[in-house]
Amino acid sequence: MAASSIRFGPGCTREVGMDVTNLGAKRVMVVTDATVDKLTAMAQVRQALDAEGVKYEVYNEVRVEPKDSSVLKAVAASKAFKPDAFVAVGGGSVIDTAKLMNLYTCFPEADFLDFVNAPLGKGLPVTKPLLPLIAVPTTAGTGSETTGTAIFDHVASRAKTGVAHRALKPTLGLCDPLNTRTMPSAVAASSGLDVLCHSLESWTAIPFHERVPRPTNPINRPAYQGANPISDIFSLQALRSTVKYLPRAVQDPDDHEAQSQMLLAATLAGVGFGNAGVHLCHGMSYPISGQNPGHRHEGYELDYPIIPHGVSVAVTAPAVFRFTGPSNPARHLAAAEAFGVDVSGVKEESAGEVLSEALKEFLAKLGGQPRGLKELGFREGDIDMLVEGTVPQRRVLMLAPSLEDGSDEVQREQLRGLFEEAMEY
Ligand SMILES: NC(=O)c1ccc[n+]([C@@H]2O[C@H](COP(=O)([O-])OP(=O)(O)OC[C@H]3O[C@@H](n4cnc5c(N)ncnc54)[C@H](O)[C@@H]3O)[C@@H](O)[C@H]2O)c1
Ligand SMILES: [Fe+2]
Repeated sequence: MAASSIRFGPGCTREVGMDVTNLGAKRVMVVTDATVDKLTAMAQVRQALDAEGVKYEVYNEVRVEPKDSSVLKAVAASKAFKPDAFVAVGGGSVIDTAKLMNLYTCFPEADFLDFVNAPLGKGLPVTKPLLPLIAVPTTAGTGSETTGTAIFDHVASRAKTGVAHRALKPTLGLCDPLNTRTMPSAVAASSGLDVLCHSLESWTAIPFHERVPRPTNPINRPAYQGANPISDIFSLQALRSTVKYLPRAVQDPDDHEAQSQMLLAATLAGVGFGNAGVHLCHGMSYPISGQNPGHRHEGYELDYPIIPHGVSVAVTAPAVFRFTGPSNPARHLAAAEAFGVDVSGVKEESAGEVLSEALKEFLAKLGGQPRGLKELGFREGDIDMLVEGTVPQRRVLMLAPSLEDGSDEVQREQLRGLFEEAMEY
């Protein structure tokens, strides 16, 4: 279990200048996107670095939901600047891009696919420590400030993939609830649904002692270990908080208590899933986002189509947890209970069904969510391609309970069934 260094509290962004100095850094690459660059969060970071007299350059061209090409562009900027530390200010898109800038700046000779998850990339382990990276999240979602994961869209394979290694974990996460206050409610909703799925998937993932193959050397042990007694504490608490506070945070932009609790929940879920892993909602979301038929999400002010990550994971959740129910009815019932369901009279064989219904109701009440893949523009004829984009997501599929791993054909059939069910609910 790898811990994460987190500082949490309103105003803690102002300390980033001193943190950078304390790390001994003198040349900092500040990474953000064009929107966040204009927010108070970035003004605070600039002020804090100026106050310490730290030399820095701002890279604000991060693409929202990064692609391989946008990452390569960012890496080139970082290689040219030669920083000795990074500060990432933004959502998962920014923090993930900064992690990859750090990785490829420290391994300038590496081929881009060397560290990318197998089988799309070579999945090589990272063999030396990277430069310090301080992450300042401005969404309450990915938990990227706590994880060793960085995700991008691999355009050639029409699915997202990424790099996952402990070495990518930020040195410090500065979780400042003042920074998430400016999120539009659509961003609060989709990033919050990411927290919901991180917590549910890590809570129900295959237990750590059943995960195979067992690595012969600890350096090859994946960051995603399977559910374990420590991650469970984080995941279940994050789930309870999300059910309680996400609807409030989405509905009322002035509900600062709910927003603050959601930022904490995102970080807790990050520690949970960053060690235990996620499974089917995430594995299936990578082709959903990568094969977007043209959906533009309301509330996202971008000049290109996007299915936000949180939307792409939540849309399959009712189908996924009905399917995984039999693998561990007790956990699925505990999760349903977190949604306020009275599970006292529920039979074990109905655990998946009950959780699935609770999720449908939660998503419907939250509002602004598609009632299935059809509303995102997918048709039955797209299912084969979606399945093909999911099969290579081995890193997460190996943690999926109830999924057959022996035979590719059986697994494809199961995934096809899940996508069919997720078409409409
Ligand atoms: N590394 C991980 O472990 C991990 C986990 C889950 C998801 N992800 C990845 O993270 C990305 C999604 O990140 P996200 O959901 O945090 O959103 P995001 O970074 O994509 O940002 C979404 C939108 O909100 C804007 N925004 C961000 N903070 C804001 C604020 N405080 N006020 C106003 N606008 C703000 C951004 O400019 C952008 O337009 C996806 O690429 C996803 O695959 C990574
Ligand atoms: Fe996620």
